[in-house]
Amino acid sequence: MSRSVIEMDHPIVRTRLSVLRQADTDSLHFRQALHDIAKLMVHEITRELETETIEIQTPLCQTVGYRLKRPLTLVPILRAGVGLLNGFTEILSEAAVGYIGLYRDEETLEPQCYYSKFPPNLADSDVILIDPMLATGNSSAEGAAQLKAAGATRIKFAVLIAAPEGIAHFHEQHPDIPVYTASIDEGLNEQSYIVPGLGDAGDRYFGTV
Ligand code: URA
Repeated sequence: MSRSVIEMDHPIVRTRLSVLRQADTDSLHFRQALHDIAKLMVHEITRELETETIEIQTPLCQTVGYRLKRPLTLVPILRAGVGLLNGFTEILSEAAVGYIGLYRDEETLEPQCYYSKFPPNLADSDVILIDPMLATGNSSAEGAAQLKAAGATRIKFAVLIAAPEGIAHFHEQHPDIPVYTASIDEGLNEQSYIVPGLGDAGDRYFGTV
């Protein structure tokens, strides 16, 4: 299977990522920079979605138009995934949005699902799983497993920053899901934070730092 990783190489992504990484960036500017990157990510991650032709009527004549072949579903993992989601829906306003909530079981250290809600046509959808920080890969892999258990088959994974360890772990369990990321960083520290990273993405986005 493919185990594909697409690292975006774009000057605006690089500059906005630098804003996100800086420790003194406040949540207003953090949000703006994250939404900018999300919109560029949409461009990359939707590039190969299939379209079908439809007949449309302009004010002048009939012509050929296009629409997406399948419904599109965005699924952020709570809470930090909501930050990237907000940028995605600025462009993909027709997409349905599902949610996955995970917590870490303190005994087993495994992620457990406490909430999930998907649209009924998930199995027919192109699905984009959204989780900004691919650190150990445990929660992302569980999120993807929840999607598959609910019937999703066409899944892509949008990640802001990925650690090599996280990519490896994720692809051990889901080699079929391509990972799109703005950066592959150096690795994880002892607390499983991504280095150089940006700290806690949820705290920084929601101003709870
Ligand atoms: N989650 C975060 O928000 N940041 C990290 O560096 C790792 C996991």
